[in-house]
Parts: sequence; C-alpha cells; structure tokens
Amino acid sequence: MSCGVKGFLRVNNISQKVAKAEYALQSFYSAQAKKIQDSLQNQSFVNNPTTLSSHCNPHSYGQNPLSFNRRCISAILNPDLLKAKIYNEDVISRTEYYISKLGYPLGAYSEDVGYRAVMRNVANFLEKRDGAAVDPDNIFLTDGVTSGMNMVLRVLVEGPNDGFLIPVPQSPLYGALTSVHNAQSIPYYLNEDKGWETNAESLQKIYNENKEKGIKVKGIFISNPGNPTGKVLSKEAIREIVEFAHKNKVLILADEVLQDTIYKDGESFVSFKKVVNENPDKPVDLFSFYSASNALHGEGGYRAGFFEVYNLDPQVYDQVKKLKTMYVCSNTVGQIMVDLMVNPPTSERNSAETVAEYQREKQDIINSLKKRGDIIRDCFDNMTNVSCNRIEGGIYAFPRLHLSERAIKEAKKNNVEPDSFYSSEGKNLIMI
Ligand SMILES: Cc1ncc(COP(=O)(O)O)c(C=O)c1O
Repeated sequence: MSCGVKGFLRVNNISQKVAKAEYALQSFYSAQAKKIQDSLQNQSFVNNPTTLSSHCNPHSYGQNPLSFNRRCISAILNPDLLKAKIYNEDVISRTEYYISKLGYPLGAYSEDVGYRAVMRNVANFLEKRDGAAVDPDNIFLTDGVTSGMNMVLRVLVEGPNDGFLIPVPQSPLYGALTSVHNAQSIPYYLNEDKGWETNAESLQKIYNENKEKGIKVKGIFISNPGNPTGKVLSKEAIREIVEFAHKNKVLILADEVLQDTIYKDGESFVSFKKVVNENPDKPVDLFSFYSASNALHGEGGYRAGFFEVYNLDPQVYDQVKKLKTMYVCSNTVGQIMVDLMVNPPTSERNSAETVAEYQREKQDIINSLKKRGDIIRDCFDNMTNVSCNRIEGGIYAFPRLHLSERAIKEAKKNNVEPDSFYSSEGKNLIMI
C-alpha cells in the first residue's frame, strides 16, 4: 500500500519497536505466497482455487462451523428469529439465557473484563478440565489470544533487559510481541530428533547464559499443542518446565489455543494450570490463553478468547485489571462465542438430538483434521530429503528439509537462511 509521500511521518520517526519487530506473516513469506498464488491462477493443472492465508484459518479451507453455536449467535443478534420458529427449543432457551444474563443488547459495552456470566462459565469449564477451583475474577475475556498476550506483555515488561524464552520453531506471534514491547527474545530450541521435546536442562543452560549477560529472563512462552510442531506435551514434560520456571522465578505464558485437538491414542490434553495447581510447593506465576480461533472452532474472525491468571500477587493482578479496563471490553459477540466454546450442549440440559448433532459435527472436524494431518505428514515423510514428525495435536505440520552442503553454502554466500534460499525464487515448491 502506498498513498504517496505527502505527510511528514517516516519510518524513522515512528515507534522503532514496531518498525524493528519481525513478523514473518507480514513479510517475505506472505509476499512469496502471493506471488505463487498469482502464478497458479493461470495453470490448467490447478483444479481448486488456492487459499492464501497468513494465519491458520480453518474456515477459509472449508471447515464448517458448529451449527448450534452459529444458530445461537444469529438469534442473539436478531431476537426476531426466536419467534420465527426456525430454531429448536435448545437454541431458543440458550439464547434467552444469554439475553437474560447480558442486561443490555449485544451492541452495548459489557463490563471491561467481560460479561460476568461468561467469566463464570469459563471458570466452570476450567474447574472441570483441571479438577481445581477457579475464581471467575481470574478470567479476562479478550479479542483472542493475541490481544491477551499483548496486554499481559504491556504489564510485564520493565525495560529492554527483560528477556522472554521463545520456542524455536515458534508461532511468529511471540517474538513479534516481545520486540514490540521492547524486550528480548531468547530462543530455546525444541528437539526435533526427540519429537520436538522441550528439555529443562537446556532451558537452564540458556537461562544461565543470559543471566550472565545481564538479561533478566522474565518469562517463557510455550505453545501446547505446538504451533507449528504438532507436539503435545506430556504431564511429565510440563512438570519439568514448571520446575524450571519455579526454580528461576520465570513466569509462564501458556498458549493452549489448540487444546481441543489431541490425536495421540489414549491421551488427553493436560494444561499448565493443572500441573501448576498440583504442585503447590513449586508456585509459578501463570498466564494461560485459549480462544475459539483455531482447530475445532476455527472462528478466528470473532476474536473470541480469554486468559486465566494464576498465583498472581494481588497488586500485580490489580495492574492487569487496570490495563484491561483501559482497553475496554472485548468484542461482545466474541464473548458469546467464548461461552459457546466452553459451554456446549449437554445431555443434562439439552435434547438428545441437539447433543448428538453437536458431537457428530465435533467428531467430524477432529477426524478430518487428524486425517489430513496424517496425509500431509506421510506425504512429507515419503519425499526425498524431507522428513516430518508425527502430528500429535493441533493443526500444524513442520517438515524438515535436508539441504545439501552446496545449497547451504550458497545460501550463506547470499546472506539468507538456507530454507529461505531454498524457496526464494518460488521454484522449489512443495504442493500438497
Ligand atoms: C498457537 C497459536 N497461538 C495464537 C494464535 C492467535 O490466536 P488468536 O486468533 O486467538 O489471537 C494462533 C493462530 O493461529 C495460534 O496458532
């Protein structure tokens, strides 16, 4: 985009924190993807239109939303639909419940932290998930994980010597937010040969090295299930990270947005909150994030999310709350979407028909994601000089390219990373 150089702002007199933040989704790769998409438009072998997405965006790839959720959202936005006799009793009663709890129509602001009723339902969901009591006041409803993390970092970062441990490979969000807030990104490498394991020993080593350099390692970002690794952390692995965090007074930012899609047989999602709560002798400040943006729900456009704070000093909590109040409430339709995410139809409250439909749609989405993940992973793994770990959860696969020494040398000569070099001309494409 360009509107000509008429005004007086230049990139060197705006925030340098923003100007210098690297955000892969906005840069080289999306430009490259756009180029490829344009070049494919005229190719006769392309049967389906290609989808260009800078974020993982299930609905843009044809995933359907859960019908119950959409019916409730439509009826709450237009209560006339309740009289039109097109929705069943379950949708009507759920919508009436929301209308009665909100106090005002959806266009009005809610409380800054969020609708009280939704915060309570989120607390109930977390209590059932983790087997521990949750105070609804510890829930902050946000416009997705991104805005929640942005807000939390705004509170946490004291100055440029603060550092945050960032997984590699990572969701580009963590590094970008860390630089925008003028803190340092400290990479910690996940072990691909051991199924993308996080190792507490190597975390300690990185922590010590940075401490020696005068960096205050303040927090660690973790994505579980992993974006982009597809790794699901075991309870033991989480416990190790919690022990490391406790020992070194490093707070945890747990991104658990992909928690509803676990494909490993017999395994279920274990949250950081559950493990921290089960180890009261090793307390850690914890911020955990979830939203309806991805995987099962795929409703990224609603900007529907929340975070829970745990073990926070009350005075720090007050600062988080104060900032949330300054940012005003998150989008109110998104708040209802959060409620629908944590509060699905159940056989205690709803008809067998509604519950069966919901469960069928949910299982279809999960089965489809798993099947597609397996196909993609196997496809990568069968290619020459490409390998890919099994996808245990979430919606990402992260293949490894085994490049020749010659290619690596050539990349270095051109001052680019070998993988960027590999794809830089749009030639060496892997199309699935
Ligand atoms: C691991 C992970 N975290 C965060 C986000 C952003 O989520 P939100 O839309 O809730 O801001 C995404 C989006 O794809 C993601 O994959």
